Amino acid sequence: MTGAHADGRSLGFGVGLRSQHMDHVLRHSPPMGFFEVISENFMDSAGRRRRALAEIAERYPVVLHGISLSIGGTDPLDFDYLARLRDLADAVRAPLVSDHVCWTGVLGRNTHDLLPLPFTEEALAHVVERIRVVQDFLGRRLVLENPSTYAGFTASTMTEQEFLSRMADKADCGLLLDVNNVYVSAVNHDVDPVEYLRALPFDRVAQIHLAGHTDHGTHIIDSHDAPVADPVWDLYRLAIESAGHVPTLLEWDDKLPAFPALAAELDKARRIAARTVTARAVTARAGGSRDG
Ligand SMILES: [Fe+2]
Repeated sequence: MTGAHADGRSLGFGVGLRSQHMDHVLRHSPPMGFFEVISENFMDSAGRRRRALAEIAERYPVVLHGISLSIGGTDPLDFDYLARLRDLADAVRAPLVSDHVCWTGVLGRNTHDLLPLPFTEEALAHVVERIRVVQDFLGRRLVLENPSTYAGFTASTMTEQEFLSRMADKADCGLLLDVNNVYVSAVNHDVDPVEYLRALPFDRVAQIHLAGHTDHGTHIIDSHDAPVADPVWDLYRLAIESAGHVPTLLEWDDKLPAFPALAAELDKARRIAARTVTARAVTARAGGSRDG
């Protein structure tokens, strides 16, 4: 376990910290590279839960993951929200602060859904401009995640992977690659998830998410209530092949297992990443000795 203030790249492996597990973590200090919390669950709380988080942040790195920024929305950015987010990030000394490439509402209404964006030049310019403003305000680089999607726009003029690549480059932000979301969206839109991964700028990927989903036959729902599915592990292996060691986090929200079972699922990621990075190094060495 590292101290609470490693830089983002060296975080290792973590799980989403849910309130059901906070007492367990405080009591047992289980080995864990880092925890991720949903920003909105702690931004406005000053009570017992916030004190527990402060204690956990003394022992582990804690990264923040938001669901209400609405970076693609057309309502003005909410600077009151951003100020509270900045305060929380400072309080837990968060090495990473992330949200999603989406919009969440309009005319002051929050739908509490991560809604898809049209992948157009206009939307790209809009999102890039807002990321720059948010990063300036927070005084840190923002990390944005590919959401799972169930519908698209016929107006889109580029793929999601092209949109993300250009967005990260123009706004100088990080990417949070959720490989389960890649799989869920790819199946729902009948596109190739491997092609999607190959098009991403992995030097921009600051964190990876893993999660379980529910396959309904005709479509897949990003339910976060099950172990990681085999095709998602395959994509994770591919991502690590391209990216090397990237902080990896397991998200689990519904039908939450006991903490040791969650940690055991995370161990699978640890083993896959170790094997993949070793194989990558052996291949690189073999290539080097042939060349030399
Ligand atoms: Fe995610």
